[in-house]
Amino acid sequence: MSATPFNPSLTPTLSPEVAAAVPTSRGPAAGVNQFHESAVAQVAGAVHYIDDLPEVRGTLYAAPILSTHAHGKLLGVDSTAARAMPGVVDVVLAEDIPGDPMLAAFAGDEPVFALDTVQFVGQVVGVVLAKTVMQARHAARKVQLRIEPLPAILSVQESIRAKSFVLPPVNVRRGDADAALKSAPHTLHGTLEVGGQEHFYLEGQIAYVLPQEQNQWLVYSSTQHPGEVQHWVSHALGIDNHAVKVECRRMGGGFGGKETQAGHLAVWAAIAAAKNRCAVKLRLDRDDDFMVTGKRHPFAYEYSVGFDETGRLTALKLQMAVNCGFSADLSGPVADRAIFHTDNAYYLQDVDITSYRCKTNTQSHTAFRGFGGPQGVVLIEAVMGDIARALKLDPLDVRMRNLYSDEAIPGTANRRDTTHYQMKVEDNILQPLLSKLELSAQYRRRVEAISAWNQTSPVLKRGIAITPVKFGISFTATLFNQAGALVHVYTDGSVQVNHGGAEMGQGLNTKVAQIVADELGIPFTRVLSTASDTSKVPNASATAASAGTDLNGRAAQFAARHVRDNLAAFVAGLDGCGAGAVRFKHGEVFSPTTTRSFDDVVKMAYANRIQLWSDGFYRTPKIHYDKTTLTGRPFYYFAYGAACTEVVIDTLTGESKVLKVDILHDVGRSINPAIDVGQIEGAFVQGMGWLTTEQLVWNDKGYLSTHAPSTYKIPTAADVPEHFKVDLWHEPNIEDNVFGSKAVGEPPFMLGISVFEALRDAVAQAKGPGAAVQLTAPATAENVLKALKD
Ligand code: MTE
Ligand code: MOS
Repeated sequence: MSATPFNPSLTPTLSPEVAAAVPTSRGPAAGVNQFHESAVAQVAGAVHYIDDLPEVRGTLYAAPILSTHAHGKLLGVDSTAARAMPGVVDVVLAEDIPGDPMLAAFAGDEPVFALDTVQFVGQVVGVVLAKTVMQARHAARKVQLRIEPLPAILSVQESIRAKSFVLPPVNVRRGDADAALKSAPHTLHGTLEVGGQEHFYLEGQIAYVLPQEQNQWLVYSSTQHPGEVQHWVSHALGIDNHAVKVECRRMGGGFGGKETQAGHLAVWAAIAAAKNRCAVKLRLDRDDDFMVTGKRHPFAYEYSVGFDETGRLTALKLQMAVNCGFSADLSGPVADRAIFHTDNAYYLQDVDITSYRCKTNTQSHTAFRGFGGPQGVVLIEAVMGDIARALKLDPLDVRMRNLYSDEAIPGTANRRDTTHYQMKVEDNILQPLLSKLELSAQYRRRVEAISAWNQTSPVLKRGIAITPVKFGISFTATLFNQAGALVHVYTDGSVQVNHGGAEMGQGLNTKVAQIVADELGIPFTRVLSTASDTSKVPNASATAASAGTDLNGRAAQFAARHVRDNLAAFVAGLDGCGAGAVRFKHGEVFSPTTTRSFDDVVKMAYANRIQLWSDGFYRTPKIHYDKTTLTGRPFYYFAYGAACTEVVIDTLTGESKVLKVDILHDVGRSINPAIDVGQIEGAFVQGMGWLTTEQLVWNDKGYLSTHAPSTYKIPTAADVPEHFKVDLWHEPNIEDNVFGSKAVGEPPFMLGISVFEALRDAVAQAKGPGAAVQLTAPATAENVLKALKD
């Protein structure tokens, strides 16, 4: 299937292709382009984000009090001046926490509010409550912190020297990398540094907490994980989970940044609300959002690789230093996923990877699209480029030479098809996918044209690269791979679906509604998705790991199937046929003898006391994984893709521009091609931003100097190349996944790495054949110039 990329929200009148995407009353609801369920209302400003909800009387506004030091003893807090400010009602600190002063995070290493030490500039010490948002923010700046400075650790190098870790180092190996390096025909040693990334969701972090009767609480939170917010709030308030209800209709983007970090705000607001017995809203100002919340983990690598004259890798010894910030948060699983994705598309024969989870005095870094995967993939792709340049081979040939395949390994019973964590790659489509893109993007012809063009161009130099992605789908923590849903059919035949997943713009609710509509054989417009709500579907996992539709879509499909089975049995009773002979299609219900409308069947079933609603539950099969050795089958399947990117650099200024992008990506059998193409485009551009313009700079005091769009540059529409073509791979998932689809949220993020490799190619072309390229990410103008001068 090849989908035409289009963006409905940019189309003022209905063009024929957009008109074709408008839901029709007949025909299948899934597998076709379908508008995002909120798209029209969102662009009209007619949907509710949390800050748009009607406020209850007496709502107070909170603003955080931030640590001014990267590390220090917190000797005292003087709030006298703040309390004297207009509108200020209260100053809430650690001593006001009714429950546990430690946050209920996995590692239990994070205080709710700083206790006796501060551990980074921006750590929240407490909140000021006032009658308006601005009064609270002004007063928060007036709170005096008495801090006795302590030495701060601001780099991973210092943290390794001081053995300052949030979690112990992890080593994964196969074979004997040292011996393989010694006997390798060629070796290379190198280092690479890759920066972090701010999530820059359009809707900033926010929570609104409302008291209910008898010490019960309603929490509106912009969160990817309402269940965890519920646990954290109840833990901090010292009450049962059942007394806290968390609701989220949608986020204005999350990108991993609202997986754990949203919980902090909800807890802070809840403590203030509990103390003052009133509703409290906490919305971070954008600068504070930058200062307080964690980001993508910056990585530093040191590697030695061995390879033969054809570019085939024979040994890899790698150290990854992961900058985790001051607490563990999700750093363990993020750093693990980086290890799992160090192979990307390639068979690593003798391999030895050590991962250091460095504790530094910065924000606690967290989930961000790809969840450590990109930090694994970017390294091995850089290695592939290095090998190609060292051998004067084409980088695509070196990549092809190293792909997973069923080629036998001489002298062993093994094949080149098993990852370094012992999972067999059963659904490998890398070779045909790369070959198809190589042809459709006219890679070989362009390589020659670019090299000829560069001969004639002394200042501007072009570069090109094709990089693949293979991304493992499932939470690596097996227990999270479960989901529940509720499907309610009302007596007029309209349907509501509720599930544990959270909508953040990715189209989860649209896809789930499509699946339910198809299962019941009714039009998409008859199914309404409702807010995630811990009192409807409990104990839901975070909407993360790209598995939102796989998990919740299946649970909702099962729930709908239960209702359909009830209706089929009822119709079978009426018409004297088997239930299996009753079909649901196009809003109608067919038995061998009679055709009725779905709505009529529902009315009749209700009158006959048939259950018209049901739950559904799903858990991912086949997966298992040993946490101590990091081996097993952590992933149900892999999603694949590849991108061909052409760039140009200015060798005088270091500036660069992406000229042309061709993508071929695997989403299995797409549930909604328009949404999938949108996810691929967005993910690519976000990946490109990470590796080009988005630079986080902490000064020598540990203060994040780039804390607003004035100093932190995300890509804009103007950075999107004019030629930006996205095609979808044509085969369904070989695993039994909902509708034959594959997850799409994160995998294409790693296609942005083709921009980085194309830039390295351009630098190499400027420097001359066989030149080594040392380029730090992000490839800002400054870093590109450094790489050219190097
Ligand atoms: N797309 C939009 N528009 N906004 C987002 O916040 N988050 C990404 C991805 N796509 C995100 C997005 C991340 S980090 C993940 S894990 C997936 O969506 C989560 O949703 P899914 O599992 O339903 O794909
Ligand atoms: Mo996505 S980083 O798994 O929220």
